Amino acid sequence: MQVKLNRQTLALGDEQAQTPILWWLREDRGLTGTRYGCGQGVCGACTVHLDGQAVRSCITPCGAADKRELTTIEGLARGNVLHPVQQAWLELAVAQCGYCQSGQIMGAAALLASTPNPSDEQIDAAMAGHLCRCGTYERVRAAIHRAAQIARTGGAR
Ligand code: FES
Ligand code: FES
Repeated sequence: MQVKLNRQTLALGDEQAQTPILWWLREDRGLTGTRYGCGQGVCGACTVHLDGQAVRSCITPCGAADKRELTTIEGLARGNVLHPVQQAWLELAVAQCGYCQSGQIMGAAALLASTPNPSDEQIDAAMAGHLCRCGTYERVRAAIHRAAQIARTGGAR
């Protein structure tokens, strides 16, 4: 198998085909920005992008990523240039404890890629599967609107 992880092509043995992507990222690749929450596909903490789509890496086997592009929170920025979602998150100080936040950011980035100017309802629907025990939901929603604005205007208010 071959996976393009954060723009780097990597070979994986066939024995890894059934390993959840989350385990491979954290244990083999040392990419611990992707979090383990529930392990059952219900909390969103482990969200990564597979060909630009948000997927739950705890329930997605490595075999599903064969010959595809996998992006984690570590690969979202381009060099020193943060993704608009990351910029907005910092501006609005969204994170509290931070545990759910990489998943939230990856979910938000996937939403904006398909829906560049989402309504509150579209944000709530897309982000409903991201649980935050600190209750950052209002700031998440505001930051997604701000990220959409940054993407449109390059950051001007
Ligand atoms: S750890 Fe994957 S959805 Fe909760
Ligand atoms: S910021 Fe603490 S769980 Fe979301």
